[in-house]
Amino acid sequence: MWVFRNSVLNSVPNSLNGRSKNVSVRAMSDPSARPSLGITALGMYVPDRVVPNAEFEARIDTNADWIESRTGIRERRFATPEQFTSDLGVLAVRNMLERDPQALQGVDAIICATVSPDALMPSTAALIGMQVGLVGAAAFDLSTACSGFVYGLSVAQGLIMSGAARRVLVVGAEALSKIVDQDDRNTAILFGDGAGAAVVGPVPAGYGFQEFVMGADGNGGSSLYLRCVAPTLPGGFDMGDSVGMNGREVFKFAVRVLGESGAQVLAKSGLTSADVHWVIPHQANVRIIEAAMDRFGLPMERAVVNLDRYGNTSSATVPMVLDEAVQDGRVQDGQQLLLIAFGGGLSWVAGTMKWWDGAPSLKPAQTAGVSA
Ligand code: ACO
Repeated sequence: MWVFRNSVLNSVPNSLNGRSKNVSVRAMSDPSARPSLGITALGMYVPDRVVPNAEFEARIDTNADWIESRTGIRERRFATPEQFTSDLGVLAVRNMLERDPQALQGVDAIICATVSPDALMPSTAALIGMQVGLVGAAAFDLSTACSGFVYGLSVAQGLIMSGAARRVLVVGAEALSKIVDQDDRNTAILFGDGAGAAVVGPVPAGYGFQEFVMGADGNGGSSLYLRCVAPTLPGGFDMGDSVGMNGREVFKFAVRVLGESGAQVLAKSGLTSADVHWVIPHQANVRIIEAAMDRFGLPMERAVVNLDRYGNTSSATVPMVLDEAVQDGRVQDGQQLLLIAFGGGLSWVAGTMKWWDGAPSLKPAQTAGVSA
């Protein structure tokens, strides 16, 4: 968010690689004075193994029709036993490089949004960087669950605005099948594995990011959790051994925050929902997306949905659904996008951006690489 509370501080000395410059904080908080930054490359990867709803019927007390009618999910992808989150992230970046071999030029920071990191240390971002030719770039993981990728876009924008980075690789990658109890019908049916990758960098004036709204409320921590070091949350809530979720609470929270944060970011951008060509929502439950679209007064046709094929891939969902909509030609140059997501924390994020298709991986599949 571009709210700087210290009005005395209006000039931040900064140095990067020997370059020294002054960045005016007051100027940065003025949208018209900000450089145009946006997505300059995209890629995605899903594992080959398709897991249809029917596969759960043999193991847990559920049925394929219930899953589809209550969530919209028909199937999801599971990584192989040998594939972990960094592997999926690397393959998403390689997909980007196949479409645009120059995509990583100038990248000097990597953010990996994930709640299923290979390890707590080293960061999954560093492991990805090592395998895609970005050794030496700053690298860190970002943990806001399903909000993570859009949070990451905002953090990337901030890193570039501050002069700390020129371009930032933002990866959303998850191997959720490894951390979800496949015998727990509350969670097993919802989640899948996948990865999406984007580069954030300069775009032509009038394109790219407009505003972000982000938030979190730890009071909702016991609605969606995964234990790491402490056995309990502050206050004594016992987290058990795998992903835990109060589905009804998360559902109500999601419907409320998607509507509220979406409205906030539109107002902050000087837009209304009538200006939005495409809503790019987190993919958790199609009924949550329907409720959010209803709150925006927009028809479901303006939401991009792929959870029927991939389920909820947490921080990988937004880059994957955006990439698919770009690849199939729905999202086009100059269109207004609204990105909305919620997740563990509980957390939420909304962002507005005007799509720029001026780089090879940002065009529909059939036109990419064809010069005008
Ligand atoms: N299969 C069959 N029946 C089920 C299942 C299942 N897997 N799960 C619950 N049921 C039954 C319940 O026992 C209940 O039966 P009853 O009426 O006889 O008591 C009935 O179905 C309805 O249960 P609800 O919990 O009310 O089901 P609901 O319609 O709310 O759907 C769901 C549950 C799908 C989990 C929904 O609440 C949801 O999608 N919540 C949001 C989850 C979410 O978004 N999580 C991701 C967060 S993002 C992140 O950061 C990871």
